[in-house]
Amino acid sequence: MNFSNKVVLITGAGSGIGRTAAIMFADRGARLAVNDISEQRGHETVEIIKQRGGEAAFVGGDVAKDAEKIVKKTVETFGKIDVLVNNAGIVPYGNIEETSDEDFTRTIEINVKGPFLLSKYAVEEMKKQKSGVIVNIASEAGLVGIPRRCVYSISKAALIGLTRSLAVDYVDFGIRVNAICPGTTYSQGLAQRVKASADPEETMRRMVSRIPMKRLGKEEEIAFAIMFAACDEASFMTGSIINIDGGSTMI
Ligand SMILES: NC(=O)c1ccc[n+]([C@@H]2O[C@H](COP(=O)([O-])OP(=O)(O)OC[C@H]3O[C@@H](n4cnc5c(N)ncnc54)[C@H](O)[C@@H]3O)[C@@H](O)[C@H]2O)c1
Repeated sequence: MNFSNKVVLITGAGSGIGRTAAIMFADRGARLAVNDISEQRGHETVEIIKQRGGEAAFVGGDVAKDAEKIVKKTVETFGKIDVLVNNAGIVPYGNIEETSDEDFTRTIEINVKGPFLLSKYAVEEMKKQKSGVIVNIASEAGLVGIPRRCVYSISKAALIGLTRSLAVDYVDFGIRVNAICPGTTYSQGLAQRVKASADPEETMRRMVSRIPMKRLGKEEEIAFAIMFAACDEASFMTGSIINIDGGSTMI
């Protein structure tokens, strides 16, 4: 896979899967617009890419509030946008009784409204060049029931709906739209959530035990799928929902 001359915008690229994907795209020639709500983490990713000889710029902002600004800054900096990866997301825990009105609204704003608006502004740019790819990072939680992930599951199922809707509406404009559904993956965010739990060892044991491969996913394994969904070699692939989960959704 080669991304020379491609401009790739990844949201939430200051950590975890987003950062790893940003580095891997840049290693293959892409110019990276690195978004994150955290300036510090976003700049760290830019520095890592630059130290490896790649090209990257920080495009800050909250995906829920600054979508238009994020796309605009990407185009001002690099002249175009070829790939948008809607990766930024939050993972609230809780069944419906444990989920407050505020939790619901905040999760839908970041996990659904952010990708909706970023895609809206990105397709305007992609239509001009009659090409582009959007990759939405959904989750196994959008496909199967996972205990105490009520609003998270709702948000990721919505992202799958957004993927199919955009794919069918923009197929004639040369724009492809795919979703990746990771299973539990050892990212920085996940490590923090495990550490903050009442019994981290037991939390980790439970997570691993429900995965048929009996291990967590690695950030690189998810990032490869993101790159595949975005690469020119996958030019016949749109509206695809790709599960990468150690077999979790096969049973
Ligand atoms: N790690 C997993 O097990 C797993 C499984 C399935 C799906 N996913 C999805 O993959 C994506 C990345 O997950 P991760 O585990 O790498 O996360 P992470 O917590 O390590 O990284 C997420 C990054 O997004 C940024 N972010 C959060 N809210 C933002 C906002 N409003 N605007 C811009 N940036 C924001 C954070 O600052 C952080 O740097 C998420 O959408 C998540 O739901 C993760």
